[in-house]
Amino acid sequence: MQMKRQFPRWRSIKPLLGWTWPRFSKHDKKLDRCITVGDIRSLARKRVPKAVFDYVDGGANEEVSISRTRRAFARVEFRPLILRDVSSVDLSTTILGERSALPIIFAPTGYTRMMHYQGEFAVASVAFKQDLVYSLSTMGTVSIEELANAIPDVRRWFQLYMWSDRVRSLEMINRAKSAGFSALILTVDTAVPGQHDRDVRNGLTIPPKIGLRTFLNMSTKVKWWFNLLTTPPLKFATVQSEGLSPAEAASKVFDSSVDFEDIAWLQSIWSGPIIVKGVQSVEDAVKLAKLGVDAIVISNHGGRQLDRGTVPLELLPEIAAAVGGKMQVFLDGGIMSGGDVLAAIGLGADAVLIGRAYLYGAMAAGEKGVEKVISIMTKEIASTLALNGATSVDAFTSKFVRLRDHE
Ligand SMILES: Cc1cc2nc3c(=O)[nH]c(=O)nc-3n(C[C@H](O)[C@H](O)[C@H](O)COP(=O)(O)O)c2cc1C
Repeated sequence: MQMKRQFPRWRSIKPLLGWTWPRFSKHDKKLDRCITVGDIRSLARKRVPKAVFDYVDGGANEEVSISRTRRAFARVEFRPLILRDVSSVDLSTTILGERSALPIIFAPTGYTRMMHYQGEFAVASVAFKQDLVYSLSTMGTVSIEELANAIPDVRRWFQLYMWSDRVRSLEMINRAKSAGFSALILTVDTAVPGQHDRDVRNGLTIPPKIGLRTFLNMSTKVKWWFNLLTTPPLKFATVQSEGLSPAEAASKVFDSSVDFEDIAWLQSIWSGPIIVKGVQSVEDAVKLAKLGVDAIVISNHGGRQLDRGTVPLELLPEIAAAVGGKMQVFLDGGIMSGGDVLAAIGLGADAVLIGRAYLYGAMAAGEKGVEKVISIMTKEIASTLALNGATSVDAFTSKFVRLRDHE
């Protein structure tokens, strides 16, 4: 049959047009357009120098741990229940005795002001606004006191690398106590610094040096360089690091002799909760439970220390079965979406830590970028809960998740 044709009319074309004329606006349109943490990662890559992006994105040696840790999430299978009233879902949970708006904790990350000049302040500010826990690293670029003074009401934990000089450790612990940090995270997967091939190839130093290649790269990352050069000098708040590579700076702090006896020492001088981060075996989790630590983080340091180590998500069910109920079990590594968060919760974690996810946000757009990451994950957690037929994070148990043998 022949259809009658007509001339296209503006009235019928206009509603089909998916674009508007460019307008000047204070909104970061590119950030607004991001719908996943992956999109934010791509934006971050465009906005900071390569060496900075690689420092965050990369890991140890051949980065086998990073890819395995991520791929484990593709093996997750949700097992939804239908015909449940999920018109309202509760995303909050209890972390070390206090409610948190989400089962997400900001992991300690060193050198955060290199990712964005607002650094630790931006992340802690989002933690405060969103009612989440913020962890400050020993390798932070703002001091314990600066952070506490700038965002006095954020729920905050201090991450400790045990210094060879125990007097320095004690001094930091006392400062953290006076500055209102409520828990200590002892990171234990850093007997020696992991070798980050990307950093070595990029010749990354602290602060970044302006070589010829960097100089040429500057023209495409003007905003980052402008912010770096017009704000207080970039350095670790507690470690003298001028001209060192990140690994060299870290080796000034890490103590290869730390052992289980140090946990007892920490317990004797710190009255608040102690969290041991970097657990990679059931055997060690059981030992720590016997010692009475309050929580552990199953973690391979985001694949930045031992390459080809255990994969946190795969280890989680076994550890949760062995020590769950005796202490809280947290997990980190590769969490990039709300679905990932719930996968870990379903497999036995009480909460997760995120590292790179928020750092991509910081590199893309400072505080607004971190906020965006949390808003994306919040929406994803809510919809994943509802689609599984679960009404709360606390009710999201192992019946909703299993790990398939293959993707
Ligand atoms: C750039 C960067 C710096 C980090 N610095 C520290 C640190 O100073 N102390 C620490 O305990 N963990 C540190 N971590 C590890 C994180 O706390 C966390 O274990 C890891 O990022 C989790 O993996 P994810 O990045 O895939 O979320 C760092 C991670 C990154 C990416």
